[in-house]
Amino acid sequence: MPTPVFPSDFIWGTATSAFQIEGATHEGGRGESIWDRFCHTPGRIANGDTADVACDHFHRFRKDVALLADLGIPAYRFSIAWPRILPTGRDPINPQGLDFYGRLVDELLEHGITPWPTLYHWDLPQTLQDQGGWPNRDTAEAFLDYVDLVTRTLGDRVKHWFTHNEPWCVAMMGYARGEHAPGLQDGSAALAAAHHVLLSHGASVPIIRANCPGADVGIVLNLTPAYPASDSEPDRQAAQRFDGGFNRWFLDPLFGRGYPADMVEAYHQRGWLPEGSLPFIHPGDLDTIAVPCDFLAINYYTRAMVRSGSEMENGGEPATLPPPVDSEQTDMGWEVYPEGLHDLLLRVHQDYRPARLLIAENGCSYSDSAEPDGRIRDERRIRYLHDHLAQAHRAITQGVPLQGYFAWSLLDNFEWQFGNSQRFGLVAVDPTTGHRQPKDSAAWFRQQAASPQHPPP
Ligand code: FCB
Repeated sequence: MPTPVFPSDFIWGTATSAFQIEGATHEGGRGESIWDRFCHTPGRIANGDTADVACDHFHRFRKDVALLADLGIPAYRFSIAWPRILPTGRDPINPQGLDFYGRLVDELLEHGITPWPTLYHWDLPQTLQDQGGWPNRDTAEAFLDYVDLVTRTLGDRVKHWFTHNEPWCVAMMGYARGEHAPGLQDGSAALAAAHHVLLSHGASVPIIRANCPGADVGIVLNLTPAYPASDSEPDRQAAQRFDGGFNRWFLDPLFGRGYPADMVEAYHQRGWLPEGSLPFIHPGDLDTIAVPCDFLAINYYTRAMVRSGSEMENGGEPATLPPPVDSEQTDMGWEVYPEGLHDLLLRVHQDYRPARLLIAENGCSYSDSAEPDGRIRDERRIRYLHDHLAQAHRAITQGVPLQGYFAWSLLDNFEWQFGNSQRFGLVAVDPTTGHRQPKDSAAWFRQQAASPQHPPP
């Protein structure tokens, strides 16, 4: 299955996040995060799973880097756990935490792998949540001190930085829908949280640049293209509103347009905002958020089909339809829709013109076990990756400045509220022994990364 020709400087990587793989939540001086608290709250996580051990990466990181080197994937996206560095979110510093990431970075560099850390992938120190969490503006201030410390320490070796992962999830899943930590259901708080996450992104960029001259910096958004369920005007409008809440609420302020007026009105109607005002915006905030970045990174998994008419039963949000019956779905129940990635890349390029684009996550959950000969033949994952890369390539040929692709995920890991039930890895991890075994997709992906000049199909 050949994949089309990618530019020779295209970045090929795999991705993980701290909470999903590290484990050792009570070791090395680490403080409690909101996800530790959430996992230990009965009923929050499938099967009562926790990430106390996860992939035990904290203890096995040298072996995992060796594995990455064996796989031959040249870039690695991981995240830094704020509560490992600052156990209560602010001073005092935990030197063991800084030391862990220093050793990880050194190990990567020694193996010729480029580190692409994310500064915030959802594991807020619980102490900061006790003081209000992201809806409290002080959390954005605390984030800046944390970023300053990390980038001063690692900035001599790390040249690529993602600030936040998926502000929509942080704000909406955490504070409005209650499906993610800290599990609250308060729409006004969620909008304030979204603003403070964006603000902390914008204010952190100059700090990162000052500490790492020449650094490459950007944010990661989970964008979901919305398709109306029919050509009817109400369905089109519902898709427009879905796009407004999911995509434009984040893209517009990042690209200097402020918050979209149609959504300010929709959120007012929903009771999340007072009429005609966004109480959390202070003078200068929108300029801070709109700081120019080196790239915009996108996480893409699936599309949304949106229909009108059920908003009131759905808390005021446009409802999405289940995937078409004849569509292929992953174990997450997400429709496999590679064309959505192409449509999304083109749309973002045309509407917002980011300097460059990256795909920071794309992948699928399928559980495939080893066959009698020991191999894990995850053909569906290979096809998923192939088809999405083909659509990404199509976007490049149409002028989209897409610079790289990180597969989610290196390892089978802890999938948030779904616990250990979802297997996204290119490498299988035995949940009891922690044993790692590359699946067939790992070898396939390595081949793409090593010889991107395959002839077009
Ligand atoms: C994204 C998250 C990532 C992982 C994938 C499946 O929303 O950023 O941590 O859970 O989904």
